Amino acid sequence: MPFSLLGKTILITGAAGGIGSETARVCAELGANLVLADLQEPLSIAEELRGKGAAVQVLAFDVRDRQASEDVVQQLPQLDVIVANAGFCPWDDWNEPGWDDVFHQTIDINALGVINLLRPGLNRMISQGSGRMVLVSSVAGRMGGLRASPHYVVAKGGINAMVKWLARKAAPHGITVNAVAPGATATNMVQGQAFDEQAIPLGRMATPREIAMPVAFLCSDAASYICGTILDVNGGVYMN
Ligand SMILES: NC(=O)c1ccc[n+]([C@@H]2O[C@H](COP(=O)([O-])OP(=O)(O)OC[C@H]3O[C@@H](n4cnc5c(N)ncnc54)[C@H](O)[C@@H]3O)[C@@H](O)[C@H]2O)c1
Repeated sequence: MPFSLLGKTILITGAAGGIGSETARVCAELGANLVLADLQEPLSIAEELRGKGAAVQVLAFDVRDRQASEDVVQQLPQLDVIVANAGFCPWDDWNEPGWDDVFHQTIDINALGVINLLRPGLNRMISQGSGRMVLVSSVAGRMGGLRASPHYVVAKGGINAMVKWLARKAAPHGITVNAVAPGATATNMVQGQAFDEQAIPLGRMATPREIAMPVAFLCSDAASYICGTILDVNGGVYMN
């Protein structure tokens, strides 16, 4: 069963959101034990998955809080995979007054928030001699996005570069680091935004499940030789 996640404990941030909660569902279907984290405890998805027999722990912390992130990573009894999925995408115009504040907020959540978690994650995985990290990036960091604002593009582009930096650091210790870069996906993040679906070769946005399945794949032993990759899952908007 190369795709099985049986016996693995997977920490997912942003687990109350569209892609995070669907990733939790897919990982639970594949047998994983889950630690689901968000700004508030993701109780609803946790209850749903416990009802189906999954072992689920919930946590509330802000990924911008370095100490809180380090405490989480250090205190979990088992941690095999981190899915750094929490994200924030304001659809504003860089001419708006106060945009710089939003810039810093966007970088703090999407870039520094990932580092806050993966830095202690790397130390822990080095000491246990194994582990996987999967980042949820964006097509916006690959080709500028269809509608994204520049702070989000900068943050996700930075994350894409960091995947490679971290993958090189982690690989000698038997740890893999990869990312999925989704295109427009039907979650709360894009609610109210008009996307030109004609600009997408497959002619539609992704469902959260279509992103969650590649994330789960990268968590599994089936992806054991994939190292420093950004997996494009965007309906053909960006073809590498
Ligand atoms: N939906 C899309 O079109 C799309 C496209 C490309 C990439 N992504 C990325 O996918 C990931 C998941 O997004 P989604 O579409 O599920 O959006 P979503 O808004 O449904 O979920 C995002 C989750 O992140 C959480 N979050 C935000 N700030 C946080 C913080 N400071 N600390 C902890 N948690 C925080 C939110 O509470 C929310 O539950 C994000 O990284 C996003 O950038 C989404």
